[in-house]
Amino acid sequence: MSERKGSEPIGVVGVGWVGLVTAACFAELGHRVVARDIDAAKVEALGRGEVPIHEPGLPELLERNRERLSFTTDMGELLDAARLIFVCVQTPPTYSGDADLSAVETAVEEIGDGEGRALVMKSTVPVGTGRKIRKKAGGLAYVSCPEFLREGSAVHDFLEPDRVVVGAEPADEWAADAVAAAYEPLCKPVVRTDVASAEMIKLASNAFLATKISFINEIANVCEEVGADVAEVSRGMGLDQRIGPKFLQPGIGFGGSCFPKDTQALKQLAGNSGYHFQLLSSVIEVNELQKRRVMGKLAKRLGSLSGKRVALLGLAFKPDTDDMREASSLVLAARLEGEGAEVTAFDPVSGAQAGELLPNVKFSESALDALDGADAAVLVTEWPEFAEIDWVEAAGRMNAAQMVDGRNFLDPDALRSAGFTYDGIGRPGVAGDAGG
Ligand code: UDX
Repeated sequence: MSERKGSEPIGVVGVGWVGLVTAACFAELGHRVVARDIDAAKVEALGRGEVPIHEPGLPELLERNRERLSFTTDMGELLDAARLIFVCVQTPPTYSGDADLSAVETAVEEIGDGEGRALVMKSTVPVGTGRKIRKKAGGLAYVSCPEFLREGSAVHDFLEPDRVVVGAEPADEWAADAVAAAYEPLCKPVVRTDVASAEMIKLASNAFLATKISFINEIANVCEEVGADVAEVSRGMGLDQRIGPKFLQPGIGFGGSCFPKDTQALKQLAGNSGYHFQLLSSVIEVNELQKRRVMGKLAKRLGSLSGKRVALLGLAFKPDTDDMREASSLVLAARLEGEGAEVTAFDPVSGAQAGELLPNVKFSESALDALDGADAAVLVTEWPEFAEIDWVEAAGRMNAAQMVDGRNFLDPDALRSAGFTYDGIGRPGVAGDAGG
């Protein structure tokens, strides 16, 4: 398999989820890619063809492009091979909500100030980070090229992006041109801008999407009070092209590695600059409250939760991933246990990860086993296979057939005719108290 004519060798620093998808997709576009990680075991496993994360389409992509891809622990090997170095290291939140940039700082130090090379920042960083790095880094050019990948559809999102954002200062125009050229085979719009604006585009985009979710969650809560159906409301709103139908699905809150972290980071960034981001503060608060509202719905059906058994269907923060970061299931399980309930759970993928995080939860091998003997069930993650559950059998195996559908995913009529009481989010006839 040969490299595409005119292709640019690509270096990737940090082979986590973003780095691995970025490396595989650039290889798919015809570039030679050298990806470097400090974790020797991971590098060896990747060299053997093992894929350490659950991401649809990724194993096929890695297999197909094996000859163009190499994994190493040696930064020197990467620097020899590529002048464009995509930094994909983690920037987790600190206790205060600021982004922890220590992995970025280490990467910058290791790359050094190589003239004629460019550091291309994929990781989400506070606005102003690029300018600071550029100042210190001597001859190294700096380009901000934030990722907009969703877990579970990251390969698709990389290869079919709505836009690619490329931010650089005028002195680094050659590097911005080279990055834009690397994405050229995609034939997608490239937003050329300055570094600070590129950094802000990423944070603002995620904050806006999170705002849409918290907004529709609050609309759902009001629907419960006034007898409207949020599914109808969402459909009617979404057809207005100025609003759009996406990210208008109510539920039990957003989770994952990005929205909670990025909303917090933008709020904190604004606060550090002396601006109180009122709307974003509310978006975050509404999300926390939304995770807890399920407790109110359960209490309305069960009374005291003490000694009751509650089954959680799904644990990951969304389907098609095993990621448990900031998953609503973590908050829910802790609160249920705090009220004295026994918690059983089934997740098709994230069982192993979840086991460590939820030591008191009893894990089952199937959804039906998790429901066995339960006094109520909560659908936490909308895994497609949950739509196929035999609800008549489920009702027979439960102690009491009660379902709180935290994602409005199941068919209420099918459940009710199987003998369930069904409560969704913002749907008519639901138990609607805010949970404590
Ligand atoms: C997100 C962004 O979409 C992506 O661009 C960014 O790079 C990383 O963060 P991701 O965290 O993988 O991606 O998940 P996403 O599909 O966006 O969902 C985030 C959370 O919002 C999930 O918990 C999901 O359940 C929730 N969500 C999403 C809703 O509650 N309602 C919706 O309508 C959409």
